[in-house]
Amino acid sequence: MTYRILQWTTGNVGKKSVHAIAENSLLELVGCYAWSPDKVGRDVGDLCGIGPLGVRATDDVDTLLALKPDCVVYNPMFADVDDLVRMLSAGVNVVTTSEFITGHHMGADRARLIEACQQGGATIFGSGINPGFIQLFAIVTAGISDRVDRISVVEAFDTSIYNSPATEIPMGFGYPVGRPDLPAITEKGSGIFREAVLLVADALGTELDDIRCEAEYAHTTEDLTLPGDWTIKAGCVAGIDVRWKGFAGGREVIEVRGKWTKGQTLEPAWPMDFGYTIRVEGRPTITSTLGFEPPPDFVAETLDDFIMLGLTITAMPAITAIPAVVAAPPGIATYNDLPLLLPRGVLRTASA
Ligand SMILES: NC(=O)c1ccc[n+]([C@@H]2O[C@H](COP(=O)([O-])OP(=O)(O)OC[C@H]3O[C@@H](n4cnc5c(N)ncnc54)[C@H](OP(=O)(O)O)[C@@H]3O)[C@@H](O)[C@H]2O)c1
Repeated sequence: MTYRILQWTTGNVGKKSVHAIAENSLLELVGCYAWSPDKVGRDVGDLCGIGPLGVRATDDVDTLLALKPDCVVYNPMFADVDDLVRMLSAGVNVVTTSEFITGHHMGADRARLIEACQQGGATIFGSGINPGFIQLFAIVTAGISDRVDRISVVEAFDTSIYNSPATEIPMGFGYPVGRPDLPAITEKGSGIFREAVLLVADALGTELDDIRCEAEYAHTTEDLTLPGDWTIKAGCVAGIDVRWKGFAGGREVIEVRGKWTKGQTLEPAWPMDFGYTIRVEGRPTITSTLGFEPPPDFVAETLDDFIMLGLTITAMPAITAIPAVVAAPPGIATYNDLPLLLPRGVLRTASA
């Protein structure tokens, strides 16, 4: 079966989704939504730095839904619940990287999505790399211990080259260190990590008594100029170490931690890892890491080429889920609901 795919926006992650769709023999790009007026009417391949794909971006949602896609790959900066309701109630499945894992941080909007899914017979699934795939990795890892005491997932990256100030400033980057409401800003901006904790708890079959967010900050000692035309002034936040913790029986049982830094001028100078570390504390304790590197034939001509590697692992969990999501019963689907997700259509053989 070939799946008819509608791409929603072509930003950092969306571009990488389009690359993956164009190269996957199971997926056919039939349309693309553009949020920026200057992208409307342009060929999607051109927008994404590959050759023309013969599909032009549009902001006409009715026209896009009339194409009867099997699935929308939804990658906008911010999720628009009205748009999602429109797609789902029209019977179009959605896979998304945009602020959605279980939908629990959405309040009443979660019920609207479920109702739209029921009305249209459609399914919505959300995952990036973190939150998303990395929690699945932790859940799978926990399956080889006969007793689990605590699961921790740590992401550590220097994100200097990530060009999305609109998603990073709400996390707390760029604010003066010591600003009293900084912890509240970070808690709100990283709120999707609450859903990551809930996903792991659900996989363990446990109810949590409490979920808490704690954060520590490092500031830059020099002004930092970053992609996307923004500057972090000296004395302002250029490192965030945020920990979302789930408690059961009065004990911390789950931690989802993000440690993101920008540049070499941090105070304190945090030691940095690169990648993801999963630790399942129990009998036995299992530690696994997930890192990534370019393929041997990789030629980086620009900084963007490097950035694309990190964005590939953000885009792909949603793309890989498409066949399972299309086949799933209507409603919200998480990793805990879907069968094993198979990497179909990506193998490059010698004759390909
Ligand atoms: N879970 C994970 O691992 C993970 C990691 C990274 C990012 N993400 C999430 O993935 C999503 C996409 O990230 P990104 O870095 O690709 O974002 P981005 O490039 O900053 O923005 C994506 C697109 O959103 C559209 N857009 C711009 N301003 C908007 C606004 N005010 N309201 C709605 N849409 C707007 C634009 O669409 P056009 O292209 O049509 O102009 C833009 O290209 C975000 O929600 C981000 O938080 C998840």
